[in-house]
Amino acid sequence: MNEHFIIPELYAPSKSIEKLKIYAGELLSLDLTPRQICDLELIMNGGFYPLEGFLGQKDYEEVIQNMRLADGKIWPIPITLDVSQEFADLVTSEQEITLRDQEGVILAMLSVSDKWNPNKENEAEKVFGSNDLAHPGVNYLHNIAGPVYLGGKITGIQKPTHYDFRGRRDTPNELRAYFEKLGWQRVVAFQTRNPLHRAHQELTFRAAKEVQANLLIHPVVGMTKPGDVDHFTRVRCYEAVLNKYPAATTTMSLLNLAMRMAGPREAIWHGLIRANHGCTHFIVGRDHAGPGKNSEGRAFYGLYDAQDLFKQHQDEIGIEMVDFKNMLYVEERAQYYPANELPKNSTVLEISGTEMRRRLMEGIDIPNWFSFPEVIQELRRSLPPRSKQGFTVFFTGLSGSGKSTIANALMTKLMETGDRPVTLLDGDLVRKNLSSELGFSKEHRDINIRRIGYVASEITKNGGIAICAPIAPYAATRRAVREMIEGTGAFIEIHVATSIEECERRDRKGLYKLARAGKIKEFTGISDPYEEPKKPELRIETEETEVDYCAQQVLLKLENMGLIAN
Ligand code: PPS
Repeated sequence: MNEHFIIPELYAPSKSIEKLKIYAGELLSLDLTPRQICDLELIMNGGFYPLEGFLGQKDYEEVIQNMRLADGKIWPIPITLDVSQEFADLVTSEQEITLRDQEGVILAMLSVSDKWNPNKENEAEKVFGSNDLAHPGVNYLHNIAGPVYLGGKITGIQKPTHYDFRGRRDTPNELRAYFEKLGWQRVVAFQTRNPLHRAHQELTFRAAKEVQANLLIHPVVGMTKPGDVDHFTRVRCYEAVLNKYPAATTTMSLLNLAMRMAGPREAIWHGLIRANHGCTHFIVGRDHAGPGKNSEGRAFYGLYDAQDLFKQHQDEIGIEMVDFKNMLYVEERAQYYPANELPKNSTVLEISGTEMRRRLMEGIDIPNWFSFPEVIQELRRSLPPRSKQGFTVFFTGLSGSGKSTIANALMTKLMETGDRPVTLLDGDLVRKNLSSELGFSKEHRDINIRRIGYVASEITKNGGIAICAPIAPYAATRRAVREMIEGTGAFIEIHVATSIEECERRDRKGLYKLARAGKIKEFTGISDPYEEPKKPELRIETEETEVDYCAQQVLLKLENMGLIAN
């Protein structure tokens, strides 16, 4: 490591900040999304060096095609500023715009040099190796990111504010200065988005010993995979594990990165970021930054693809890879061994991530050899057994399919048990109380469903049961709601699969007649689409089935998932 090298930061000189703020206050401005704020912070503080802003079109095309910037430097992930068509229409290239956080605080100015409509399928295929929406990065690209990209250089005005764990957040230059102060010349970084258990502690400790380096635990606290353990809990767990390393060999710093789960390309990106933070070595594991299974149940990337790609580009990345040795627990020796150094005839004990979650959810014992008592205690505190957590039951189906009736029956049955507060967010009630100004265009339906999702996620987070019963005709919006909720509790999607013919025959509100006569426009199932859920947790057929039995089916499902105690 060249410890005297200062990573260029993109903040304006402090004496001009006040003037710049006044100037920027009058420009056209954009409130950034949480992911864009993460990206901007790392652009401004040099975590994404050599980037000087959000990618322009030429850099973008090269990054997509060849993992390089237009000047030939390696860069595998497109860092782009996506915006809506309406916002893009207000911008001419060669104009300055102001970038703000979600409360409107001015963070930076962007000198727009490029504006273009990307080919997202091509981007997905090249960056993620797939256009399958089961990949969280692909889903973000198609269903969350705006259709137009703006590119240009950034002038930093203020750092995004963080109120949590301030003392644990460091810029690249702060970490470099820290390493220099301690005389750490070789530092191996460990990237993680999960709690650390004994196997990780063992492996990081061995990695550091193997390359004779100090160790930086460098967890991502920006955005990780939807459904991951929240970063507040994780940081408390990391702090407990830090004490297990020999004194003064190891430190931890939090990285406000928004991960893309892009596997091999992401590993290179992570390496470049750690090199910028002054590290000399980087641990790359099995299935590094892997996104899980695709929609056919197969892995998106080979187990060691990330290591292979990293190896090919190691010199350019400027950091040396330490391959992750899978650590396994040998019962007879009461000790961890790397998978390739297991003693003969040993009994290996293993608990997979899924099994670990199941044990937490069901309140089952987690043995001491697997993790540290302090870590388990933290995890149990924030992830109580499922039967004590909040959850959301989300009914979807055509108007008149029976959603509200079943939802009401379910609510009553859940209230009988009385162990958690229950809230019903019925389609009609929400439209009266939360969404009275909205109509039935796609845009308005999406806003309506997102509002329901937001309220349900707050209820779920605070340990209650939310029962939602809107039509929710669009798959992507239902998925967005699922993602909002799954970090805080279970999401159970229930398709009330009454056919359009039956709904029309029942026509309890007389709306189908009006829709057929053209008196109600954009009516779901008649003149507007309904996208059936492909894999709901439960599908209920209501024709020839009593409401009571339908509600019973839901209760059984909830019991089966461990959400209500039997
Ligand atoms: S959405 O798409 O999820 O936002 O719809 P939702 O809020 O659940 O709809 C609530 C009720 O509005 C009545 N209604 C319509 N439905 C569909 N399309 C059109 N154009 C429409 N206009 C009014 C309908 O009765 C919905 O109630 P339910 O309970 O589903 O019958």
